[in-house]
Amino acid sequence: MKIDFRIEHIDPLGQGVSKVGDVVTFVKKTLPNETGTAEVYSSKKGVRFAKLNSLVETSPDRIEAECVHYSKCNGCDYQHTTYEKELEYKKQALTRHLFKFPAAPMTVHGAKRRLNYRNRIQLHYDKKKKLLGLMDEQNNILPVPQCKIIDPSIAFELRALYEADNWLKVVAKEPPKGHIELYAKDQDKSGHNVKISMNRPYANGGFTQVNFEMNERLRDWIQKTANTVIPPKAVIYDLFGGNGNISKKFKNTTIVVDKYRTTPQADAHQRFFSIDLYDKNSVKALIALKNEGVPRPTWLFIDPPRSGLKNLEEFIVEFKPEGFIYIACEPTSFARDTLSILKNYDLLSVELFDLFPSTKAFETVGIFTRKKNNE
Ligand SMILES: C[S@@+](CC[C@H](N)C(=O)[O-])C[C@H]1O[C@@H](n2cnc3c(N)ncnc32)[C@H](O)[C@@H]1O
Repeated sequence: MKIDFRIEHIDPLGQGVSKVGDVVTFVKKTLPNETGTAEVYSSKKGVRFAKLNSLVETSPDRIEAECVHYSKCNGCDYQHTTYEKELEYKKQALTRHLFKFPAAPMTVHGAKRRLNYRNRIQLHYDKKKKLLGLMDEQNNILPVPQCKIIDPSIAFELRALYEADNWLKVVAKEPPKGHIELYAKDQDKSGHNVKISMNRPYANGGFTQVNFEMNERLRDWIQKTANTVIPPKAVIYDLFGGNGNISKKFKNTTIVVDKYRTTPQADAHQRFFSIDLYDKNSVKALIALKNEGVPRPTWLFIDPPRSGLKNLEEFIVEFKPEGFIYIACEPTSFARDTLSILKNYDLLSVELFDLFPSTKAFETVGIFTRKKNNE
């Protein structure tokens, strides 16, 4: 069904919102005050999702997307406007997610590069249909040989896969449908360090942040800022710590906990433990670390997957840390998990780190310290 729309505002997921009577329609890749036509592809309980067809009135903030796949691809959300506007929409989104929180200073850390940054891409394939690419909104595979947000070394390998359908040879022994992941494990721009995995879980080879440059900025900021509130003798538990990325630059005694920990480099101040933090006995498992000579934490870093840590309060009640830093790639999880903690902790500041330019995603970092009357 074809509809006419007028966009009122951009929602926290970066979609344009059009309202006619009681019917709300979300149209991606539009801007406030734009009008045009769109094709509805899904409709539920008075809410419609439509794909942009054509624009009648365009916003002065609209620019030409740099990527040739942009209009069809579901990977990026903001290439049709400037990076300044993108950051403004992201800040608005985070402000909305935190509307129940007391005011705290919010700083936006924008990226230097809006494109050519992702060190990891997962592509789906269908051998029978001879298709390799990203999933579009209707779950069809869209070939993206010229994807612009990936690092040049990954882009080089990606083009090689598409050339003469080389990928069909690569997946020759794999099932008819599946996925391929291209990833660069460290910041080697020589183009020789890209690895490929097939039909393995996402982030094969151990989780790493997808944006090397912004990850560095994030770690530097945490280290510099946290050092003003975290005493040198504090014991830090780096929960969902992966390879110890977030706490690497600290000199404190640090206990890195991750279910799927990868083999880390030996680093005197970090010790690594494999614990399932989503298990109902995870707090007990952390307490039991004392049997291994591990001191109790006085600070927590928490950097969970998108689903967050619903029972964060249990960890806080048990360890009563002087403070904690929550790092979230999903702002709704940040808001849900930390709101109840505010009765005993102050939120010193909120940082928006744009690790995912051109897309709706961003990283939220909050520093919390125990209220004075809760000493
Ligand atoms: C967003 S990543 C953060 C990793 C790390 N802090 C970093 O900056 O690279 C989330 C981490 O949670 C870990 N993880 C996922 N499920 C887990 C679980 N049930 N228990 C413990 N860790 C888990 C993943 O292995 C991954 O390293």
